[in-house]
Amino acid sequence: MTLVNEPAITPIRLHDYRRPAWTVDTIELDVDLGIDATDITSRLTLRHGGTQTTPLRLDGEGLELLAISLDGHPLDPSHYRHEDNVLEVDGARDGSVLETRVRVKPAANTTLEGLYLSGSRETGFLLTQCEAEGFRHITFFPDRPDVLARYTVTLLADRARFPVLLAGGNPDGTGELAEGRHWARFVDTHPKPSYLFALVAGRLENIQRDYITANGRAVKLVMWSEANVIDRCHYALDALERSMRWDERTYGRNYDLDVFHVVATHDFNMGAMENKGLNIFNAKYLLADPDSSTDEEYRAVEAVVAHEYFHNWTGNRVTCRDWFQLSLKEGLTVFREQQFSADMNSPSLKRIEDVSLLRRTQFPEDAGPLAHPVRPSEYREINNFYTATVYEKGSELVRMLAGRLGQEGFRRGMDVYFERHDGSAATIEDFLSALGDANGIDLMPYLAWYAQAGTPHLHAQGEYDAARRQYTLTLSQHTRATPGQPEKVPVPIPVKLSLFDRDGRVLPLHINGHAAGTEAVVVVDMASQHVVFHDVATEPVPSLLRDFSAPVVLEYDYSPAELALLLTNDADGFNRWEAGQQLAVLAFDSLHGNAETDACKAWCDALTALFEHHAIDDALLADLLTPPGEIEFADRQSEVDPAKIHAQRQELQRHLAKRIGAPALLARYRALASHTSQSLDAESQARRRLKRRVLELLALLDADTAHALAAQQYESAVGMTDRLTALGVLVRDRAPQAAAALADFRRRYADNPLALDKWFAVQAQVPGEPALATVKSLESDPAFTLKNPNRARAVLGAFASNNPSGFHRADGEGYRWLTERLAELDALNPQIAARLATAFNGWQRLEPVRREVAHAALGELAQRQGLSRNLGEIIGNVLQ
Ligand code: ARG
Ligand code: ZN
Repeated sequence: MTLVNEPAITPIRLHDYRRPAWTVDTIELDVDLGIDATDITSRLTLRHGGTQTTPLRLDGEGLELLAISLDGHPLDPSHYRHEDNVLEVDGARDGSVLETRVRVKPAANTTLEGLYLSGSRETGFLLTQCEAEGFRHITFFPDRPDVLARYTVTLLADRARFPVLLAGGNPDGTGELAEGRHWARFVDTHPKPSYLFALVAGRLENIQRDYITANGRAVKLVMWSEANVIDRCHYALDALERSMRWDERTYGRNYDLDVFHVVATHDFNMGAMENKGLNIFNAKYLLADPDSSTDEEYRAVEAVVAHEYFHNWTGNRVTCRDWFQLSLKEGLTVFREQQFSADMNSPSLKRIEDVSLLRRTQFPEDAGPLAHPVRPSEYREINNFYTATVYEKGSELVRMLAGRLGQEGFRRGMDVYFERHDGSAATIEDFLSALGDANGIDLMPYLAWYAQAGTPHLHAQGEYDAARRQYTLTLSQHTRATPGQPEKVPVPIPVKLSLFDRDGRVLPLHINGHAAGTEAVVVVDMASQHVVFHDVATEPVPSLLRDFSAPVVLEYDYSPAELALLLTNDADGFNRWEAGQQLAVLAFDSLHGNAETDACKAWCDALTALFEHHAIDDALLADLLTPPGEIEFADRQSEVDPAKIHAQRQELQRHLAKRIGAPALLARYRALASHTSQSLDAESQARRRLKRRVLELLALLDADTAHALAAQQYESAVGMTDRLTALGVLVRDRAPQAAAALADFRRRYADNPLALDKWFAVQAQVPGEPALATVKSLESDPAFTLKNPNRARAVLGAFASNNPSGFHRADGEGYRWLTERLAELDALNPQIAARLATAFNGWQRLEPVRREVAHAALGELAQRQGLSRNLGEIIGNVLQ
């Protein structure tokens, strides 16, 4: 299948990277703001890099050129060419000043890239999003991350309509102008790439706090939002302060401007953006209050605030040479956020959450037609590469490096990295060299991880020699071919391991004549290798890949009893959970009809014992009681029938619920529900998490009782966690009480778009065939719009990506519905259309009936004229 418009788009290749011929020392921007038309005057001081004279070529898209001059002289049209997203200028020399004036149309910009309007024409505000290539939608510029310039930005606007004017950098004066207009200037003392430019203008309120950095700088921290939600920014402000202190303590990194602004918008393509000195957030990741945010959302706000703040050093002070190096900032910053969140909350719960996310989003990406290395070697549309692979797998790679160097060694390496590359644009090689040089270790073998797509499978096999008291572990690795990469090389896989005896006691390790404590790390860097353990008294049960020490799929032929032993005895929360997950997989695979298999029995017995003994934390218990999700089960099958997987997973959970028993579940629910504290402390959160799981399990056994409890919980809930849990149980089961609860939720949150998104999503996720009819009715709801990304995700994303049994109908109607919506959305916002289209990833592994109809729907979409580069690339890749 070829795309009609495919040949026109040539890929950009890592291999073709060249240093820029022209760079920019300083840029002065005067932005005359208006909702319909904004005029931007730019003065660039140019630096010519090479010796050869190369014509000056600047990026610019959708700009109306109003005026142009070079070194003070207006340019005759014969001395420049403005065509196809490029401005070419003759006669520029080293040190020349190019001045351009352009006009853009913010209100007409539905792509939410460049300068756009958030909210209504009457009350909304203007803002920018430049990463990756949005700056070229604002002015002519060499719009690439290796061009670092000093920015002076002056905003001019009507004071009544735009009372607040913000740009990155330090404030450098304000003043009045004629006719009720005013101006504000900002100077950024740090050279930065264009993707970190930002401005915001409109009617906004703020809350603020004074902060003194560890090295003594007084900083104003300011959170901005529209007036009606400013009360919900306090948690984020606290989280920001915690992030700043943590980065000072952990990495010795201080903030480096006099102000730090953070702005919330309801109209945003991504989670948030780390613009220098002026972070901009999707409101979903900034606003939090007990009445409208769940516990998970509170944690997400803390994590995203931290992530964007940490970018100030990993991303902004040290940026990326080119977009192929995106994981240099993203993988590293995700890792730093994960460390931070683990420190702030529970390390093992955080690890469980992150590994689940990796398996749900990154493993399927790595196993299908969209597979790409953490450092891709080519792309057509860079916005399509803000992926789980670049972010989440990228973070796992940094985690392996950090593990290899140890805490102090990693810190030493990071210090060298910052010292060498501060104020410049770096590569993955630079990162590996800095870490390696600081520790006298060659880390270049890890480059293979960055260059090679696909999840390695690690096969392990143990052999016990009782006579010699010797245990030999054979570890071999294999990575399947991915598109464009038929041959794979071995990568270094750190395998953290322990051995247990048959009574569940951890054994001392003796490897190569050395005592190694009770836990060791073996690095598997060849296709296959052996590890020999001496002085092993009995045949052990190995606990492998502890703490998920490498992003691989482990294959070890555990018996149900061995996994149950680890589930019961492993001291580490993460490994305990992991053993439970593997045991649940065995149980799932063994289920046929009602007969209880060994695996199912082992899983249910072990969990029931843990449930009854009150020996572990409530939150961990809730996670243990949750088997892998439908997507993870699908990922392990060669012919996927999502309806069957859903039914079988329900069946598996019903076995567990039965084994624990309705009376025990009910008693535990009542005990948990007797605590009414809405506090965010770990214990209260844990109780709510377990209460939810218990209610869900009870619903599988005794629906009437569970629904009555859910209805009551809905009524009496003081916080969103309990309220949404109850609503979810009622809606998913299509309980008689669901309609009233939905109507109430709708009324209650009519003016709260983020809460209303949950109302949409919970319905779009009702499993099974009826979901499509529900989704169609949601679409005609007056509050539905494709123009708002959060709302589009709440319906299209919830249905297509988070509801496999609803989306994958055998009649293909789910696919046809989605492709229609994607075509419509593509005309408004190509980035979001492309993102949602990834729901089709994996269609080749569907069972034949669904495969056929999915293929037809995709083929039809691919043939349409005028698809964006974003959507065209995803559909083209998915179809190959
Ligand atoms: N750098 C941002 C973050 O990770 C993401 C921005 C991505 N934007 C985009 N248009 N792809 O925090
Ligand atoms: Zn980021």
